[in-house]
Amino acid sequence: MKISMIVAYGKNWEIGLDNQMLWHISEDFKNFKRITSGHHILMGRKTFESIGKPLPNRTSIVLSKNGFCHDEVHTFSNENEAFDFARANGEEELFIIGGANIYETLFPYVDKMYLSEVDFEGEADAYLKEIDFTYWDLIEQKDYEEILEDGKIKSPAWKFKVYEKRD
Ligand SMILES: NC(=O)c1ccc[n+]([C@@H]2O[C@H](COP(=O)([O-])OP(=O)(O)OC[C@H]3O[C@@H](n4cnc5c(N)ncnc54)[C@H](OP(=O)(O)O)[C@@H]3O)[C@@H](O)[C@H]2O)c1
Repeated sequence: MKISMIVAYGKNWEIGLDNQMLWHISEDFKNFKRITSGHHILMGRKTFESIGKPLPNRTSIVLSKNGFCHDEVHTFSNENEAFDFARANGEEELFIIGGANIYETLFPYVDKMYLSEVDFEGEADAYLKEIDFTYWDLIEQKDYEEILEDGKIKSPAWKFKVYEKRD
């Protein structure tokens, strides 16, 4: 089973504030939905609480060490149990979808990264640990322009990039 991570981050590696996202980019949401649909998605308890409900057409797995429980998600207290569960279900590509704590702890397991680099700088309290791209190959890139409404930025510019870990 391939282990992938999908994340959107700003110029200073910011990813969230007050357990919420920092921007609204509808094309990025669509992209996230398209890429993760039909797969197991793995997240930390805080990210699940920020989303508030299981995402449709995906199998949600939540990591928590404090006995978190919810009817519609599968909860595990460590990542290996979560990976075993997805493998046993026949998953071929599991997606780690955040947040900061989970991205950092599980980064060593990641084979493929789907990154949205957002042209945003601002207040945050959750950050991605800076990625060293030395051992990663860029296999796909698409650049998106900012969207303006009444002269203001409705949605910032962003670059979607896919990287695979070099063998
Ligand atoms: N920009 C993006 O793409 C993106 C994506 C997702 C999230 N976010 C942002 O990220 C922020 C949340 O990140 P966060 O770091 O605060 O929280 P988080 O990573 O979502 O969740 C942390 C919690 O996960 C559990 N946990 C972590 N590692 C574990 C392990 N190895 N085994 C078992 N349980 C484990 C613990 O839960 P217990 O305390 O219950 O034990 C821990 O408190 C929010 O601001 C959110 O909006 C951004």
